Amino acid sequence: MLSWDEEATEVPASNTAPPQAATVSQLAGAAVDTDMFAASGLTAAAHVADTSRRVNAADKRIINGHTDVNQLVPFKYKWAWDKYLAGCANHWMPQEINMQRDIELWKNPNGLTDDERRLVTRNLGFFVTADSLAANNIVLGTYRHITAPECRQYLLRQAFEEAIHTHAYQYIVESLGLDEGEIFNAYNEVKSIRDKDEFLIPFINVLTDPQFTTGTTENDQKLLKSLIVFACLMEGLFFYVGFTQILALGRQNKMMGAAEQYQYILRDESMHCNFGIDLINTIKMENPQLWTPEFRDEIKALFLHAVELEYRYAEDTMPRGVLGLNAPMFKGYLRFIANRRAQQIGLDPMFAQEENPFPWMSEMIDLKKERNFFETRVIEYQTGGALSWE
Ligand SMILES: [Fe+2]
Ligand SMILES: [Fe+2]
Repeated sequence: MLSWDEEATEVPASNTAPPQAATVSQLAGAAVDTDMFAASGLTAAAHVADTSRRVNAADKRIINGHTDVNQLVPFKYKWAWDKYLAGCANHWMPQEINMQRDIELWKNPNGLTDDERRLVTRNLGFFVTADSLAANNIVLGTYRHITAPECRQYLLRQAFEEAIHTHAYQYIVESLGLDEGEIFNAYNEVKSIRDKDEFLIPFINVLTDPQFTTGTTENDQKLLKSLIVFACLMEGLFFYVGFTQILALGRQNKMMGAAEQYQYILRDESMHCNFGIDLINTIKMENPQLWTPEFRDEIKALFLHAVELEYRYAEDTMPRGVLGLNAPMFKGYLRFIANRRAQQIGLDPMFAQEENPFPWMSEMIDLKKERNFFETRVIEYQTGGALSWE
């Protein structure tokens, strides 16, 4: 760690292309050297605010706006503000959830089958880094390109929720005493996980590139495509095999602490996905020239690719049937979800009408704050000290 006494050394600017075998983590961190002011969205040419008169809500735009990004009101995008308030009302912290029964079950040699253990470790192998990717995408990428302060306010809340999710996964790994090296490196070392992340990385990197600015049809389409990949395919599809698996464990009274954490994460993620879809649809409405037939075809191809990758992940995590689940059931589920996401952004369904094989997942998403299915919550909430478990 640097101390104040150490001399700062200048890091030479790199003009060389990234090495061909760059790891997922290197790729995701590519824009860390971004100039502070350019990245703030305050100095980029497209975002220069007109301060000669007071902000008029009607002038606000989600992208390429010219109103002052520091003035939250007057509101124009009330849906974004409402989601910010809802996100705050759903606040939770991982340490509030009792993991004692999970720990006992995990440590009991007869507590879980080998297939169930594989499912848990592969599942965490994806999630422990996924939400850091999500947070970096928001903070280093998306945020500076969005010129509506209501939407920025939600993104700030979302970024913190992504930190809580990473915390929750880390807390589960630590509670169970899992091999941290194995779990946190899974996105580099386990093909089915790496393939999902490598699909996402180019769409993160385009937004975090310090040279990238919106304001042309081509670049605005790049931004819109990244937002669609992120909301509809990462948060809206790539999370769902994993969520269903752990919640299915919880429904069988296994790993109920982990399941409760996932339940809260699922609630947050469905809000992130809905916010992203509202953002996408509003950008489409404000910039109809972006939604060309060629663009829609590109999006459809990405949806099909993502469904395939998530299905391969389902097969890898469940080589045999486990917990009444098997990979083929997920084929239908992923098609069902992909159809829904497509329709939510104004595309035709991509697959023949699929039934939802897991209707109970909808109940989980609709969780009310006061209620949880697994009832493992700590009775007394404390901060800054040890928690006592009921
Ligand atoms: Fe998350
Ligand atoms: Fe998220």
